[in-house]
Amino acid sequence: MKILEITGGSKLTGTIRVSGAKNSAVALIPAAILSDEEVTICNVPDITDTEVLCEILTFLGAKIKRASETIVIDPTQLENREIPENLAKKLRASYYFMGALLGKYKKVVMTLPGGCSIGARPINLHLKGFEALGAKIVEKDNCYTITADQLKGANIYLDFASVGATINIMLAAVRADGVTVIDNAAKEPEIVNVATLLNNMGAKISGAGTSRIEIEGVEYLGKCFHEVIPDRIEAGTYVILGAACGENLKIDNIIPEHIEALTSKLEEMGAFLDIGSDYILVSRGEKYKGIHVKTQTYPGFATDLQQPLTPLLTQCEGKSKIEETIYENRFMHIPYLNQMGADIRVKNQTATIIGPSKLKGCDVVATDLRAGASLVIAGLIATGVTRITNVEHILRGYENIVEKLNNVGAKVEIREI
Ligand code: EPZ
Repeated sequence: MKILEITGGSKLTGTIRVSGAKNSAVALIPAAILSDEEVTICNVPDITDTEVLCEILTFLGAKIKRASETIVIDPTQLENREIPENLAKKLRASYYFMGALLGKYKKVVMTLPGGCSIGARPINLHLKGFEALGAKIVEKDNCYTITADQLKGANIYLDFASVGATINIMLAAVRADGVTVIDNAAKEPEIVNVATLLNNMGAKISGAGTSRIEIEGVEYLGKCFHEVIPDRIEAGTYVILGAACGENLKIDNIIPEHIEALTSKLEEMGAFLDIGSDYILVSRGEKYKGIHVKTQTYPGFATDLQQPLTPLLTQCEGKSKIEETIYENRFMHIPYLNQMGADIRVKNQTATIIGPSKLKGCDVVATDLRAGASLVIAGLIATGVTRITNVEHILRGYENIVEKLNNVGAKVEIREI
């Protein structure tokens, strides 16, 4: 098993270059199936999630060439067969193969994992969209057989602005007969990135990034070249780290407006940020005051950033609150932060943080991806050594995190135990 060993207390200075967005890449790779020609995607982060999705594509018979951050996918020899559970369950985002295979072949058979540690994470809205388009769904022991004689455009209202459901319905509708409208669609930047890929292939999608997306079905999707947008959650994680331990730490290759909800909260706290066109320069401030954060769908405060923000709030004077409105179980990092010396109480989806606290390194466990990121930040703030087990969670979503941190003065090591 791998652990991350962090010696805290260093001032971090220099430049961290942010990679391509995990939550975009995990949709773009399955979306390539919809093309009848080769699709080239660059700026793809080299993380386990993208590796697994390429493994599934290869299992289906697609030809894949990868050169550093560029992937060339040739789906022309692909055979639509059941995706085995052992591959599908490696990551939640494997559900994008549902929309892509249904949209291309009008049939998909795959087993999906149930919930994960942060919540039940049902896919009822995805399935509601597929049925609206004319698909028939049979589910047995989490194995879904979804078929359609014909996919016909439909008007679909999402009870919740789900990112996954919005993208999956787009994938299923892009080659359907007629026009599909998704109302109350999610507005995350990753959705725009996927819609741009599909339009580059020849699709006719408008309104991505707004709550109403229109998809006019087309017969043919072809060759294209596309780029993954910078990862706004990785960017936000490192900006938070800079506000905690930085000295002119530059977070580079980002789209600042994608993390505006975060930067405005950090400034409210008393952090000084130099926000450029594609970078943010940040240093640890002298004094921070407590703030209230409520997670929302985009462009509100991202649920994925509330966990990395928590250790920084332990350094604020007075009381801070984080209200988590998206997931039902996204506070599993908190007992470990308290073990390190924080003073945080959780009641009814709200964490109350009393600061400032002196954090001391100790042995902790990464329970999920962003909880792991939270413990990395806590370990870098703390005095002494912090050992994080289950580090695979972190490596799923943060490309070259050890190298990126050590390059700016951190003391971080991956050990095999
Ligand atoms: C995406 O998950 C991200 N993952 C998540 O990031 C992110 O937290 C989430 O969007 C919200 O921004 C990827 O893009 C791979 P949702 P997704 O559908 O699409 C409920 C990370 O750390 N819901 O918007 O699964 C669901 O249970 C990960 O990188 C239904 O009830 O998110 C959740 O409570 C974690 N029925 C809420 O909506 C459905 O059919 C948000 O889910 C679908 C979702």
